Amino acid sequence: MHRPTRSAPADTARIALRDLRPDEAGLLDTLMAGLSPRSRYLRFHTPTPALSTRMRRALLDVDGHDRVALVAETDAGTPVGIARAIRDHRHPDEAEIAVAVVDAWHRRGVGRRLLTALAERARAGGVRRLTARVLPENAAALGLVRDLFPVTVTRRDDDALVLTAVLDTGRPDDWTITMDDILADLAA
Ligand SMILES: CC(C)(COP(=O)(O)OP(=O)(O)OC[C@H]1O[C@@H](n2cnc3c(N)ncnc32)[C@H](O)[C@@H]1OP(=O)(O)O)[C@@H](O)C(=O)NCCC(=O)NCCS
Repeated sequence: MHRPTRSAPADTARIALRDLRPDEAGLLDTLMAGLSPRSRYLRFHTPTPALSTRMRRALLDVDGHDRVALVAETDAGTPVGIARAIRDHRHPDEAEIAVAVVDAWHRRGVGRRLLTALAERARAGGVRRLTARVLPENAAALGLVRDLFPVTVTRRDDDALVLTAVLDTGRPDDWTITMDDILADLAA
């Protein structure tokens, strides 16, 4: 199996981030075409040869506040990655995130840039905790989330791991996981 190693950080200088627009179905299909079957499986937790109409509609349902999706594009305008944060309406200070980077751009810092920017947007919108459902074998996603968010709790939910990352709000107390955090996570 091809295991990408780290490459020069200069790569990401060619990448710009912007919000996904609700009419960009073609962009989603371009990104899907750049994901290997394995990457699609890791992203959607099931074999996904192509996006269904229903999936496409759900992925395009963005509003820039409660449902944010950021796209990474090369300077030629080619999309190479996407990350989204969907606020939990029951717990508005919590959002579920997901990320995918096309295989040709793996391990070049795109996922890190996307999630860093997404966390900043989420934090500015009042989100304090990010959750991510990750398959246990997904070393890249586990490594990325744990590397970016040092305060992360992991629990098992069926076949997936649910990672809950506590965002740094600049207040020292928020770096501590409290009993409330753990109980809220268990109740989720
Ligand atoms: C997970 C994924 C988004 C990572 O994106 P990426 O752009 O390749 O990641 P980056 O280059 O920004 O890596 C950032 C950090 O993540 C970790 N990481 C990334 N790839 C890794 C790998 N293959 N193995 C272990 N750690 C890895 C490392 O800590 C890395 O930091 P480093 O390069 O300084 O060591 C990408 O592998 C992907 O799209 N996978 C398929 C879809 C998927 O699994 N999505 C997650 C579902 S929520």
